[in-house]
Amino acid sequence: MIGSIVHLSDTHFGGEADLSMIVAIENLIPDLEPTATVVSGDLTVRARHGELQAAAAFVRELERTAPVVVIPGNHDVQWWWRPLLPFSAALKYRKYCTYFGPDATPTLSLPEVFIASAVTAHGVAWGSLTLQPRDIAVKGHLPANEIQRVAELFHQADPAQLRVLVLHHNVLPGELSRRMGLARWKRAQQRIVESGAELVLCGHDHQESIGQLGDKVVVSCTGTCSTRSRGDRPSVFHKIGWDAESIQIEQYRWDGERRRFIRADVYVFARQSEVHAARVSARAS
Ligand SMILES: [Fe+2]
Ligand SMILES: [Fe+2]
Repeated sequence: MIGSIVHLSDTHFGGEADLSMIVAIENLIPDLEPTATVVSGDLTVRARHGELQAAAAFVRELERTAPVVVIPGNHDVQWWWRPLLPFSAALKYRKYCTYFGPDATPTLSLPEVFIASAVTAHGVAWGSLTLQPRDIAVKGHLPANEIQRVAELFHQADPAQLRVLVLHHNVLPGELSRRMGLARWKRAQQRIVESGAELVLCGHDHQESIGQLGDKVVVSCTGTCSTRSRGDRPSVFHKIGWDAESIQIEQYRWDGERRRFIRADVYVFARQSEVHAARVSARAS
């Protein structure tokens, strides 16, 4: 393997975090030796200071092993701050940014991997609105200018780097929820495929899923480290490794009796992007 990423999501610090899982992850991470760790949003329940402080302490512990990329989810956004009014976007993320830095869409560039992120949690915003009242402040959307910004970053990345996009909302349909995380999801999927991403990391659905977009972008949607696993199924997080030819996703499933995560199923995908294919053919010629 060239590198690996531990992908966590939906810790929901507050009344819903499962602290035995949090402790198990903190203990296991050094043994997994990731190149980087990603937490794809919903760190809290209601973006309260105490919840954000607990989440920040968890991230600091993860950073003892490898760099960590963190983005906000819909539960981390103070969407009730002047919803639908112009110039209010920064206010929604202000409290989150107090704890995780001024950039809600961080980028991490390492020799093996280029990780970019995009905010899909916009609270009550025009792009996230649907005809379903229960979607308000829950559904996300991927604005054109946001994915364009990411595409330009990927274009500048070294071809030797795996190009990874981190989002909060699930871009594959939930098996049990039967829901997509994003409004106007077909357009969002197309934009992701066109962005040059090779791997998408997301969460939100509270049920793990693995698949592809456009038969070439691998998607890791990881479960929750909270008591709200969908269907009361055992929680799952992912470790993703890659080499020149493939991307491999290992699932770690929670064993409640032994209070530890156990390595479970493994999925392997051939790397398919045009940039990667060009690199392989150049090496062969
Ligand atoms: Fe969540
Ligand atoms: Fe969420």
